[in-house]
Parts: sequence; C-alpha cells; structure tokens
Amino acid sequence: MTVIAIDGPAGSGKSTLAKSLAQALGFVFLDTGAMYRALALAAQRAGVAPNDEARLTELAQQIRIEFVAGEGGQRVLLEGEDVSNAIRTPEISALASRISVHSGVRRAMVALQRAIAQQARGVVAEGRDTTTVVFPEAIIKIYLDASPEERARRRQHQLQQQGINEPYEKVLQEILERDARDTSRPDSPLRIAPDAIVVRNDGWTKEQTFAHVLALCQARLGHSP
Ligand code: DC
Repeated sequence: MTVIAIDGPAGSGKSTLAKSLAQALGFVFLDTGAMYRALALAAQRAGVAPNDEARLTELAQQIRIEFVAGEGGQRVLLEGEDVSNAIRTPEISALASRISVHSGVRRAMVALQRAIAQQARGVVAEGRDTTTVVFPEAIIKIYLDASPEERARRRQHQLQQQGINEPYEKVLQEILERDARDTSRPDSPLRIAPDAIVVRNDGWTKEQTFAHVLALCQARLGHSP
C-alpha cells in the first residue's frame, strides 16, 4: 500500500490536486472530507443531534463507506447507496463541520480511513489531518498552501461561476476566520507535518500545481517523470 497524503488550508486546491493525482497514478482518491459528509448525512437520516458525541461515535464505528469508480469519476457509497451528490449540499457541509469536532468521531473515521487504504494498492488521501494523524507514515506528504488573498480570489471566482456575487473583502474575511478556526481547534488542528513538502501555488494554474506535484511523486515513487 502506497499513501500520498495532501493537506493544506481551505481553498489551496488540494481536492482538485488529489483527484487528478489519483487518476494519473491509478490510485484510490481517499476523500476524507466526503467521509465526514457521508457520516453527517447518515446522522441526519437517523435523527442524531450534531452535539451527541456518543451516538455519533457509535454511528461512525458502524457506518459502511466505500469509494468506487463510476461514470464521471469516483463515487461515494453509504451503505451501498450512491450519495456523491447528496453530501454536497450546504446543509450537509454545515453538519459535517459540526460533527467532525468530536474526538470519538475522529478516532472512528481515522480507523475507517486506514482500513480503506489497507485494501488498496495505493491511495491519495486528502484532508486536513491526513499528513499528521491519519497517515504519519505516508511516503509523500504535500502541504499545499497559497496566500489568503489568492485563496480569496479563487473562492470569489468560484462563487461568481455559481452566480453568487460576494465582495472580495467579505470572502477574504471568511477565509481568515476559517484559517483561525482550523489552526486553533483542539483535536487535529491544521498544521504542517515536519516531513511535509510545502508547495505554495500563488499565481499557478491547477495544471501547473498538478504537474509540479506529479513530478515530485514520480521521483519519490521511482518512476521517470
Ligand atoms: O473538505 P470538505 O469540505 O469536504 O470537508 C467536510 C468537513 O469535514 C469540513 O467541515 C472539514 C471536515 N474534515 C475534517 O474535519 N477532517 C478531514 N480530514 C476532512 C474534513
């Protein structure tokens, strides 16, 4: 099992990067955020409150989440049901963020993430604790970073494409607040693993980021670039 772990702040482009890397290398894209989202959906359906750590932990210990190749990319299955679209609503985003603060939940999810990786030839694991907590032994750890200003510009552009016009200052403020929350939370705060390669992609396109990191991975995995 080969693990490539990708971490970094919101808006650094880690999801896009992890997805293309997994595709290029023929690895499973271990989207840990999607797993917290699937758990949030399961909790919502079971009527479990977001602050009920005991029941949420129990649910996380029993839940069956799988990643399977499907049309248009990888799909997320919850108890065999394709929930790839259902977990992307704003309501589930908010819920996932609330349930992921519980230590019991995180322990169960980390165990599940390791179990999925065990079964795969290779995984590209993406998420804020993948380089530090979930896969400290990962063969390559990438900490993808960009300045708050750059990430705010990208976010604003993304919102515009969805027909939402937000002032730049407001988007930047939200990014700064989220950074502060992510780095100061007690369990698994966002931090740079000592052996991570920091890639700053200010001003880079996603293709440039991908080419740069793919070359790093190929060099480490012993392939020619
Ligand atoms: O990356 P995302 O938006 O899909 O993540 C959904 C939520 O889960 C988000 O609030 C962050 C949280 N999360 C986490 O706590 N740990 C991870 N490894 C991945 C996501």
